Amino acid sequence: MSELEARPYASSLIESMRSVGYSLESAIADLIDNSISANATSVRIEFRPYDEPYLAIIDNGDGMLPDELTDAMRHGSKSPNNERKEGDLGRFGLGLKTASLSQCKKLTVISFKDGVLSCRCWDLDHVALRNDWILLVPDSKEEILALPHVAELTQYGHGTIVLLQSLDRLIAGESSAETAFRYKIEQVRQHLALVFHRFLTGEPNLPRVEISINGDAVEPIDPFLISNRATQIMPESQFPIENSLITVRPYILPHSSKLAPEVLKLAGGEESLRKYQGFYVYRNRRLIIWGTWFRLRRQEELSKLARIRVDLPNSLDHLWTLDIKKSTAHPPEVIRTRLKSIVDRIAERSRSTYTYRGRKTRETGITHAWDRVEGRGASFSYRINKEHPLLRALHDSLDNEQARLLDGVLGMLEQGFPCDSLYADMASDLRQERESFDFHALKEMALQIIEAMAAAMPNGRHAALQTLPQLEPFSHAPELTARIVKELENAV
Ligand SMILES: Nc1ncnc2c1ncn2[C@@H]1O[C@H](COP(=O)(O)OP(=O)(O)OP(=O)(O)O)[C@@H](O)[C@H]1O
Ligand SMILES: [Mg+2]
Repeated sequence: MSELEARPYASSLIESMRSVGYSLESAIADLIDNSISANATSVRIEFRPYDEPYLAIIDNGDGMLPDELTDAMRHGSKSPNNERKEGDLGRFGLGLKTASLSQCKKLTVISFKDGVLSCRCWDLDHVALRNDWILLVPDSKEEILALPHVAELTQYGHGTIVLLQSLDRLIAGESSAETAFRYKIEQVRQHLALVFHRFLTGEPNLPRVEISINGDAVEPIDPFLISNRATQIMPESQFPIENSLITVRPYILPHSSKLAPEVLKLAGGEESLRKYQGFYVYRNRRLIIWGTWFRLRRQEELSKLARIRVDLPNSLDHLWTLDIKKSTAHPPEVIRTRLKSIVDRIAERSRSTYTYRGRKTRETGITHAWDRVEGRGASFSYRINKEHPLLRALHDSLDNEQARLLDGVLGMLEQGFPCDSLYADMASDLRQERESFDFHALKEMALQIIEAMAAAMPNGRHAALQTLPQLEPFSHAPELTARIVKELENAV
């Protein structure tokens, strides 16, 4: 067979590649990947909607020399099959170009390294004019210095500016650059806060990276609420695939009714908490996929408290069929099998946290007002705990006839426990309305318990006081209970 050269038409290919499906937030995230791979500790996103609107991403990373920059601007600057450095977030040698040009028609990159300032520009109008892969290079240093933020770059000593101008796609469908930006910026912030949360927080062997948007720092969103005491952190497991290690750590989040509004916000809000259960897959600690069970399990409401962190190195990209935008990837069978067994174990645990938080807390020694009782076979029921000191006290104070009546009333309440409707409510998005505890009512209850326990044992008052924090409902109001215990300690 003979050979025939079929070079792509630059103008139409570069134009078509604009539509690979980037959103503004995924495009910016892709550019930040580059900054982080170049060891930047500060990434600033600056947007100016006026005069000639632009979006600039300025980092203090290693920067590039002129030849390196020329190469970086080339589509397919690195082969996806090449091995990458350990912390490199790149794969395809495309992101810089495709992400930027998905939003704009003119991409200028200015870089500063070893005291050398260099600049290259893809201008789609010029590519169309020449119908060839022609990069533009400024004629003089003055021309580069006239570009926005270049002075800041030289102050850093090294770094890179990615400057997007002629923002046709970013503005498309909006009346002005300003409205477009205002409309999209919150989404960008949320996306970056989640995708880069481990960089924003910093971890061992992972220097902290600051990201800001027009001067406003992006605060991390932690999808596992690690700092919350009620989050259950499960043991980590690791399994080797092709000489690389995959690390998996499941978390069971606290029920949302247990979370203060500011904590809920930290987790990305109630909606995100509800919607994004499942795996959180990190590639070199950058979040790439989240809120999916990879069809290993149905997205059922009852496992919505479980989130499983999966850490991948960049050496397994070929197995996960990572896409150019690094926003989709599918686990290969070897990994699916391992994940499935973890998922089943976790979902069961999450379900028990969800259906009855009491079962777990019982291990910590709380005396509940209600007990969940497992019956024969796969059955269960809820019973009023007749050993609760308050109930015990009431029972003991009654004569036989009254005690029988009380048993009748308790039986009626147990029989009438609205299991079905509770189940439906808990699985819905409704929140439980909790009456706030009244100090005096709680104190009155405490006094009754102390009286009853004092009658039953010699050192009863003191013992009763000490057990108070472990009794329902006192266990739900720890601060008020502490006050009551303190007040009564003096009186007892
Ligand atoms: N901000 C930056 N600082 C330093 N070097 C950069 C920067 N942005 C890009 N580069 C260089 O340009 C090259 C090309 O970047 P590009 O994003 O197009 O591809 P990639 O990061 O290698 O792979 P991917 O397509 O998966 O993102 C990078 O490999 C890197 O060497
Ligand atoms: Mg890249």
